[in-house]
Amino acid sequence: MTTTRTEPALTEERIQLLRADFPILAEQPAGVPLVYLDSGATSQQPRQVLEAEWAFRTQRNAAVHRGAHTLAALATVDYEEARERIARFVGARPTQISWAMNATDALNTVALSLAEANRAAADGGSATDPTLRIREGDEIVVTEAEHHANLLPWQRLADETGARLRWVEVDDDGVWSADALLALITERTRVVAVAHVSNVTGQIAPVERIVAAAHAVGALVVLDACQSVPHRPVDLGALGVDAAAFSSHKMLGPGGIGVLYLSEALGAALPPARVGGSMITTVTMTEREYLPAPQKFEAGTQPVASIVGLAAAVDYLEAVGMAAIERHEVALGERLAAGAVTIPGVRLVGPRPGSERAGLASVVVDGVHAHDVGQVLDAAGIAARVGHHCAQPLHRRLGVAATTRASTYLYTTDDEVDRFLDALSGVRAYFGAV
Ligand SMILES: Cc1ncc(COP(=O)(O)O)c(C=O)c1O
Repeated sequence: MTTTRTEPALTEERIQLLRADFPILAEQPAGVPLVYLDSGATSQQPRQVLEAEWAFRTQRNAAVHRGAHTLAALATVDYEEARERIARFVGARPTQISWAMNATDALNTVALSLAEANRAAADGGSATDPTLRIREGDEIVVTEAEHHANLLPWQRLADETGARLRWVEVDDDGVWSADALLALITERTRVVAVAHVSNVTGQIAPVERIVAAAHAVGALVVLDACQSVPHRPVDLGALGVDAAAFSSHKMLGPGGIGVLYLSEALGAALPPARVGGSMITTVTMTEREYLPAPQKFEAGTQPVASIVGLAAAVDYLEAVGMAAIERHEVALGERLAAGAVTIPGVRLVGPRPGSERAGLASVVVDGVHAHDVGQVLDAAGIAARVGHHCAQPLHRRLGVAATTRASTYLYTTDDEVDRFLDALSGVRAYFGAV
């Protein structure tokens, strides 16, 4: 995640210009100007993305890869061009990019395909590729901070294969140690699955070190890139991960579309989890032969307009500049963290101010439930996320049911962060907790 290009900074003036592209930012859903600090859950869409989808739906809509008519050919061009643009964005070849419903679906696909490979292998079937083999006594390594989308598929795969799920624990701040994670990777490890950036704490995983340790023992690395690909330059090819997942709706794109990245080797070796239309070469009443990746992982009709919208989102992000977005958000994350620790009765979760963290911060307000915090913020027009953020084990370890999270994006201003911090500092007094 190094920044290689010099891009114009996201100055206040530039952000104001960008904000004009996002119609929703002018809305006042709670009757006061909206401060949208929930981009970690879902981001907003600029006009350019909405228009690209509209143009496809009104001018090109047709089933791709099937029709003999001109419209179908035009739709197919748009569809495959979108794949190429998204591949380029993450340092991949188009054949390494398969569509999924969302990141959850993409992560499930990897785990289900591994289960399928191991079922077939157990039956003496063809899927005996040693890189896919998971047996009793093998291990799958995760962290205690994972989003459920990157925990439950591995839990279930462990149950199904007899492998043991191992995890690196977080400390009292919700942070896990890279050295402790690396120490868990042994000859028994078959899969290491981690979030690139934690959606609760903003902690950033040292992916290169994890890949080196995992590959040294022949284990696969699966990266949950939901909170990294939208927010900073990410070159999946250079990182060397075997699989990665991210969601369109968190990167200015439409909902209902996610991306599964697979290395060439894993894409070739993995059997499909789902079978059906659009993913075969030949079918008889008893046999089937699958197309190569990526089509083999894309059974059924895909949401083409949404894929075109995602490509427009990628164009938008590239025009702004991912390195500039990263710098802007890192500064906002630091502003959030540094501000939160100065508020009496507020406990910051995640890396301490001054340490590496992404552009988000989660807090606990002593004596006030996060849902009540959310209500006070909402009354001030601030949309923040409250709850366990699909990371219950992390919250259990912190001894809290829920946290309040502010998450930023390219359209977030310093002033919005300050309004969040101001509102947060009034919460305890409001509930008589001081
Ligand atoms: C780190 C992380 N992983 C996975 C997901 C799941 O994404 P989706 O719900 O789009 O599948 C999210 C979304 O909240 C996330 O933040």
